[in-house]
Amino acid sequence: MPKITVNGKTVEVEAGKRLVLAIEEAGVGIGHRCGGNARCTTCRVEFESGEPIEMTRAEYEKLKSGDQLGKIRLACQIVANDDMNLKALVTAENTPQWNGDTGPAIKDEVTPEAVFYDPAELEE
Ligand code: FES
Repeated sequence: MPKITVNGKTVEVEAGKRLVLAIEEAGVGIGHRCGGNARCTTCRVEFESGEPIEMTRAEYEKLKSGDQLGKIRLACQIVANDDMNLKALVTAENTPQWNGDTGPAIKDEVTPEAVFYDPAELEE
């Protein structure tokens, strides 16, 4: 079972679990204001270790348009298949104006398109 350490909290999750849900399971109130569809970036994370190379087309396009490729990742577009150590950057804990509302419910599977690519394939 992959071990996910986020903001100093650790949880073991089923392989293939959507990372944003694993982070919530760890007890960190990560944002997901667009419902996990690669539109809002409130689920952004910085990896310390275990960052997957592959990404969805939706994540690639969102990060590229914001000049964020190589800087952050979107937890709603990643599945936990290996141990990961990371920081959730926008959370209920550091965004008091949300009043604890981190966003709409998240589906178990990655949306909009649970297909993962090597970013080099998406550069064209
Ligand atoms: S981009 Fe909105 S929840 Fe991930």
